[in-house]
Amino acid sequence: MNFRICKICNIKYPIFLGPMMHISRAPLVAAFSQAGGLGCLASSGMTEGEFRRQIALIREQTDLPFAINIAWITPNAEEIVQWSIEENIGIFISSAGLPEKNLRRIKSAEGKIFQMVANVTQAQKAEALGVDGVIAKGFESGGVNSLNAIATLPLVPQIVDAVSIPVIAAGGIGDGRGLVAAFALGADGVLMGTRFLVTHECTVHNNFKNALMNAIDTDTTSINFPEFSIRFWKNKRAMELVVDPKVEDLPWKRGSEVIQGGDTERILLGAGQIVGLVKTCLSVQETIDRIISEWKMTVRKLQNLTSFEY
Ligand SMILES: Cc1cc2nc3c(=O)[nH]c(=O)nc-3n(C[C@H](O)[C@H](O)[C@H](O)COP(=O)(O)O)c2cc1C
Repeated sequence: MNFRICKICNIKYPIFLGPMMHISRAPLVAAFSQAGGLGCLASSGMTEGEFRRQIALIREQTDLPFAINIAWITPNAEEIVQWSIEENIGIFISSAGLPEKNLRRIKSAEGKIFQMVANVTQAQKAEALGVDGVIAKGFESGGVNSLNAIATLPLVPQIVDAVSIPVIAAGGIGDGRGLVAAFALGADGVLMGTRFLVTHECTVHNNFKNALMNAIDTDTTSINFPEFSIRFWKNKRAMELVVDPKVEDLPWKRGSEVIQGGDTERILLGAGQIVGLVKTCLSVQETIDRIISEWKMTVRKLQNLTSFEY
């Protein structure tokens, strides 16, 4: 089967790594691309030196394609675009806005852009502006979400029907069954974040990986801020924020404590509702291989549906 996004990005499997601030860094990104998906470097909060170091590290570990995330709420987003162009980055995952001027800059440098969207209107606007694909991100996702709060299941088919560019489903996908479900809704591929928090190459503290492997379906909470919400793994600090949301506690204001510290009650970690499905810590390669075999097994099972008799 020919997947449009595999052709556009020159990758083997139609699976993107979700950019995760301070977490989707060189080891995870390179391993993901090396395993056949599209790794994506979360650039938010990086200085120029750190950004270029991360790119060099990724390129030491793989010569396969990877993407850069530009989250437009990051103060130095425009500079990151400039450094990316200088580094010959060919693929961008754009989130939290889509400034037209910057879209044109990336396009004139022949970059491909995938835009994160949370409703049909945003997807149509992104298509009209000339992006190469949209990532339909449902409310069950870890990290920043739209206050629209539309879940992946209703979001994806409505966007698929509204645009003709590729649609990548994100939010609540944790294994091969989720991937096949996304295909059934008409998606061209998937983007996964939470599942890859618990892999060997992910640099979050082991205390968090162990906590996530013990988490159940109800262990995330969504905190509303005036312009967006954020879904966190439920710990003491997150529950305090539910009652009293403080902007100074947002992950992009607090540095990279989640990869350095192991205090699972006080440090905030984004995670999606699929977290209860994550029970093993494997390498990225093993995780992707497993997803691909679950995909094939699920499709074989579904073939029996064609002989269903009323
Ligand atoms: C810890 C964490 C940090 C995230 N940081 C970012 C980010 O910096 N930029 C971004 O566009 N999305 C970010 N996201 C969203 C992911 O890229 C992705 O869309 C989401 O994880 C998909 O849903 P899932 O968690 O159910 O797989 C983050 C998600 C998590 C869990």
